[in-house]
Amino acid sequence: MENSTIRKSKVWSPEKIDEIQEKAELGRYRIRGQATKRQDLPSFDDLVFTPAGLSRVALEGYREKCDTRVVIGEGRVKRPLVLETPIMVAGMSFGAINSNAKKALGIAATRCGISTCTGDGGMHPVEREASEKLVYQLLPSRYGLNPYDLKRADAVEIVVSQGAKPGTGGTLLGQKVSEEVANMRDLPLGVDQRSPCRHPDWMGPDDLGVKIDQIRIATNYEVPIFIKIGAGRVYDDTKLAAKAGADAIVIDGMEGGTAASPEIQLDHTGIPTIAAVVEAAEALHEIGMKDEIKLIIGGGISNGADAAKAIALGADVVYIGTAMLVALNCNKSIYVEDYKALGTEPSACHHCHTGKCPVGIATQDPALMARLDPDEAADRVENYMNSLTMEMQIFARSCGKSRVVDLDPTDLRSLTWNTSMITGVPIVGMGTTRNPYWADYHHATGQHEFVAK
Ligand SMILES: Cc1cc2nc3c(=O)[nH]c(=O)nc-3n(C[C@H](O)[C@H](O)[C@H](O)COP(=O)(O)O)c2cc1C
Ligand code: SF4
Repeated sequence: MENSTIRKSKVWSPEKIDEIQEKAELGRYRIRGQATKRQDLPSFDDLVFTPAGLSRVALEGYREKCDTRVVIGEGRVKRPLVLETPIMVAGMSFGAINSNAKKALGIAATRCGISTCTGDGGMHPVEREASEKLVYQLLPSRYGLNPYDLKRADAVEIVVSQGAKPGTGGTLLGQKVSEEVANMRDLPLGVDQRSPCRHPDWMGPDDLGVKIDQIRIATNYEVPIFIKIGAGRVYDDTKLAAKAGADAIVIDGMEGGTAASPEIQLDHTGIPTIAAVVEAAEALHEIGMKDEIKLIIGGGISNGADAAKAIALGADVVYIGTAMLVALNCNKSIYVEDYKALGTEPSACHHCHTGKCPVGIATQDPALMARLDPDEAADRVENYMNSLTMEMQIFARSCGKSRVVDLDPTDLRSLTWNTSMITGVPIVGMGTTRNPYWADYHHATGQHEFVAK
């Protein structure tokens, strides 16, 4: 037969064949950075905004204000965390990324009035200096954790798990354990590190409550405490985190980024961000804490539409990691030969785990690091953050809202049945009353309230 009739199998696709043969050669599973590459997940793109027309009046962009400020821990701690826009730079460890990248993110976040987060591996002095508002992570690994830095934090984030590897500990391959990383983490130089999958000193939500009390005492009741969980059993976990005493709950969907995770886990563990936000918002609402406890959602958020839709579905703030790296230059079409040497190309790179990042972000190699000028990079990240804010305001104003946080599910319609079922947002073409499962929606006292029929 001629070539034109050669059929490829869906079951035994070229990717699957490649994967099996790579495992056969390596004798282990694949580990890589970035995020799942699944193409079939429901996403925020399945939703559209229903802008104001006659039934609602839009706001004028040039003259009418659209507020973006969010405060975390208000009425609960002495020094609540004020964010000028509902975006936070997600925790990315010193080790996964280097001090130049941390500095750039810190400068940009400070200019935009938002926070950065240490991630694993401790508080780097450059990061503390660059970031006016810095969230300090407390992870199962305890790498770089010390009471001195805890007291210098503007918020504390207890990490139960992250979306890219929920239920598994972290991985930092030896090639990234430079002298500075080893010193900060108290580790031997150049040796692969596996960090634990759960905290050594508490086993469940009741113990976690005690741990939170201890941190409150250690920080003099000054700063908010978050609990971060990879999206899996979101509805129950959110209620338990609230009961344990968190001021904010961070839910990281299965699209969440990483510097190194088993690929099989990236693709097959956790639930998508769009489903996670709905479950978490509903759980908080049910226990009457939707306003008091802030909901922070991460995982695959890349533009103001994703962010505004997450907020409309119940989030208060979005948490962004990978897109911040992209703004720094990740996957940019420069140093193309170095991408090729890694077996990849710009826009397809997921090689953070190798420590050979072509653009100088996910590497501790001084020669590669020199490719990232923190001051120039900070300008790019600042521009990106400002664009996100303006995009969110476009949607809020066009829906007639003077605060981004006032976006709600009635501002949305779903383009697909799947996403409609997942979110409860009516499918396009069917008003709220004709949709058989659309719950009666009330927007009383600014709360998102679903009442099942
Ligand atoms: C390079 C990199 C390093 C990360 N390191 C950490 C970490 O140390 N601790 C943590 O809780 N999450 C870590 N994450 C996950 C982020 O905090 C966040 O949950 C995730 O990036 C959100 O998804 P997004 O990347 O699609 O925005 C990391 C993510 C990336 C991309
Ligand atoms: S360009 Fe660098 S930061 Fe981006 S995916 Fe590749 S190795 Fe990671």
